[in-house]
Amino acid sequence: MIKKLGIIGAGHLSGFVCEGLRKSGWSGKLVVSSHNPEKSRAFRSRFKAEIVQVNQQVIDVSDAIFVAVRPAQVEAALAGLNWRDGQLMISAMAGVKIAVLQELAPAATIVRTMPISSSALLASPTSYFPEHATVYQLLSQIGVGILMQSEEEFEAASTNGAAYGWYFALIDEMVQANQRAGLSKEQAKKVTVETLASAAKVALASERSGGEILRSLATPGGVTALGLKVLEEEKAMLPWSKAFHAVTMRLKGESSQ
Ligand SMILES: NC(=O)c1ccc[n+]([C@@H]2O[C@H](COP(=O)([O-])OP(=O)(O)OC[C@H]3O[C@@H](n4cnc5c(N)ncnc54)[C@H](OP(=O)(O)O)[C@@H]3O)[C@@H](O)[C@H]2O)c1
Repeated sequence: MIKKLGIIGAGHLSGFVCEGLRKSGWSGKLVVSSHNPEKSRAFRSRFKAEIVQVNQQVIDVSDAIFVAVRPAQVEAALAGLNWRDGQLMISAMAGVKIAVLQELAPAATIVRTMPISSSALLASPTSYFPEHATVYQLLSQIGVGILMQSEEEFEAASTNGAAYGWYFALIDEMVQANQRAGLSKEQAKKVTVETLASAAKVALASERSGGEILRSLATPGGVTALGLKVLEEEKAMLPWSKAFHAVTMRLKGESSQ
């Protein structure tokens, strides 16, 4: 396991990851630079991180470095820094390819990852590429590491990091529908989220596709079938795959959106 983890980009995502690592009992050292003094201090008080002056020092004193600046900030953050031969860079930046990172850090071993905010609850399904035992171990601390077989596969899987956000919109819609049907806000949230979590558990435990599970539930004349008919007439699933496609294109660098 990593003993000293450097952080370049002490922002939202790094905060979720560090919160999860500490919650999991990981007692290694965290190191951040004073790039943004206010955020570095927050990392010190929340996660007992050590603060150093500049990004180069983060690399110098760490075994591995988690890089999570915004894609537009990557060049400014990493240009001109010296990495030890084979030193591990764990990138979490959506759409930033290994070739780009390798040019900025030729000596580093680079692994791309896509953790999400549920890292803080030790529940992040984190896709990663390429295989790396230490990275897998780290991701297992904050959820489950899911190895992808190529960078193209990794890009496709990264879209789920965006879809994760859309599920909250679906939750909101269903909570409001429950409230309109007469439930209190608390009851509506509880029943909606527990039902969604229950569907996720069944899907994870089953070899069957979502469609097969659904067909087994939608007895003719029943209420599941009734609602499904409305969803199908409204083509309610289509915008979800369109949204997925738009993000995939952006991550592949093939979109102007
Ligand atoms: N948020 C998520 O849930 C999520 C999920 C998956 C992947 N990601 C990826 O994670 C990355 C960060 O996203 P975020 O939402 O965490 O953004 P964020 O909150 O803006 O975090 C980026 C952090 O990087 C810092 N930074 C900028 N330039 C730097 C430099 N030269 N040296 C050191 N630190 C620097 C920023 O400081 P300043 O505030 O001073 O600029 C900020 O604290 C993105 O590439 C995104 O694709 C995010």
